[in-house]
Amino acid sequence: MSSTTDASTGRATIAARTLRTDRWWLPPLATFVAFVAWVAYATVRAFMQDYYFVPEYGYLTPFYSPCVSTGCVEEASHFGRFLPDVWWLPYAAVSLPFLLLFRLTCYYYRKAYYRAFWLSPPACAVAEPHQRYSGETRFPLILQNAHRYFFYIAGIITLINAYDAVLAFAKPGGGFGLGLGNIILVVNVVLLFGYTLSCHSCRSAVGGRLNHFSKHPVRYKLWTQVSKLNTRHNQFAWATLVSLAVTDFYVMAVSAGWISDLRIVG
Ligand code: FES
Repeated sequence: MSSTTDASTGRATIAARTLRTDRWWLPPLATFVAFVAWVAYATVRAFMQDYYFVPEYGYLTPFYSPCVSTGCVEEASHFGRFLPDVWWLPYAAVSLPFLLLFRLTCYYYRKAYYRAFWLSPPACAVAEPHQRYSGETRFPLILQNAHRYFFYIAGIITLINAYDAVLAFAKPGGGFGLGLGNIILVVNVVLLFGYTLSCHSCRSAVGGRLNHFSKHPVRYKLWTQVSKLNTRHNQFAWATLVSLAVTDFYVMAVSAGWISDLRIVG
């Protein structure tokens, strides 16, 4: 197999699209199917405006947190109700767009959807169909640089999710309650913290721009911990997609009366 180099691109000119013989197309295809399914589910749920809260146990789905529409039931609204109740506005419209932007600009998701949706490139050592490549240097992709700001907002929203999970241990009539829903809410929050704290922007915020780690022992310690989490960021990215969907579905199923919550205490 002979090849020469294209002087304009610096790339090897190879007639075949790829010389890979493995099933390189499987990961991007699986990513494509999973993302489309998840986004379809999340969109339906975000606009459903029902089955988002279980009043008996205080379970609030993260898809409706914080619930700030005048359409929200009062017990689910921990931060006031000030958005109009119209069909096209999700009850958690103050958080969902930022969560979407946080994930859309995430370094890992970028890799995943550039491969799965834009085929740019679909896999390592597989030629992409596009003739030109400008990276993320132009509009709109240059906006990916805003990721660090969405990180801070997502951090606040994760704290709100944690607050919801803690509140759910208090039964509305008074006393402590524990059910499978509480466990699911807590696991989801732990994974959300894992995803948020393992963010590359978090690593940069904690330990970036330091010339001498020895002069900043606390930040160095934090940076080493965040760096460890950071190596698992892609796993947290997928785990939180699953945990968010499972948490939401469980709350919907209990709220709709399809299943009963498995109670352990109270
Ligand atoms: Fe993935 Fe920040 S959330 S890199």
